[in-house]
Amino acid sequence: MTKRFHGKIGEEYALFERAYTHFNEFQERIAKQVSKHCKGKKVYPILELGCGPGPTSKKLLMLNKKAILTAVDNEPLMIAQAEDYLQQYEDRVYLVQRDILEYLDNMPGSVFDAVASGWTLHNFDSSYREKVLRGIYRVLKPNGIFVNGDKYAQDDADKHHADFNWSIEQFVKKMAEKGHHQLCYDWIIHMGFDEDPKRLMKERESLSELERIGFISPEVIWRKRMEAIVSARK
Ligand SMILES: C[S@@+](CC[C@H](N)C(=O)[O-])C[C@H]1O[C@@H](n2cnc3c(N)ncnc32)[C@H](O)[C@@H]1O
Repeated sequence: MTKRFHGKIGEEYALFERAYTHFNEFQERIAKQVSKHCKGKKVYPILELGCGPGPTSKKLLMLNKKAILTAVDNEPLMIAQAEDYLQQYEDRVYLVQRDILEYLDNMPGSVFDAVASGWTLHNFDSSYREKVLRGIYRVLKPNGIFVNGDKYAQDDADKHHADFNWSIEQFVKKMAEKGHHQLCYDWIIHMGFDEDPKRLMKERESLSELERIGFISPEVIWRKRMEAIVSARK
């Protein structure tokens, strides 16, 4: 799998947060969906795919006080930042530096009550992503929940283009106009590559794919601009 988060984008990922006014709400909604599903359980293992520097992980840990979190990322820089950022939760979090599919393929089935991810699966080409989704299904316990917050393109192309333009505008306003020209440029290129039809996740197709794999009741539970949160059960 190509690594897309080394270099400047990885080093200054925190600036990305400023570019998206709905960043916090997005992270919190992912974690809330997991906690709503796992309410009443004693201690429960959850898995996060693509933790980056840890924003999704932190919300998952804050809102799931009885959860033990395993968070996977293949970028050493991101794992180092997450170690630092999640220090106060060190007794409840295991950071694993590994490729996501490799990790899933090496796990036994029916282990986790929840699998969550933020802004990660859209980086994959569709054939790798399908293998990952099948892996997620396998490692979930029966009735376990999968929550993915990510870029899901709206099925209406005009709406999708308007969302795309809005996101670019945010990068220009919050990065370039504050002096971070190179970073703004890097993110715009990254966004352009995300539109590659080999990668782009369209909302309706993505829900159908989950159903085909066997997930129960996949649905969009939240959307703001390019970002949507999809939830489904095993
Ligand atoms: C955009 S970041 C998301 C970080 C965080 N979840 C958030 O919402 O801000 C995506 C992360 O996925 C990781 N990643 C991408 N492809 C991966 C793969 N195949 N295996 C492991 N990690 C991967 C990247 O290194 C990066 O840290």
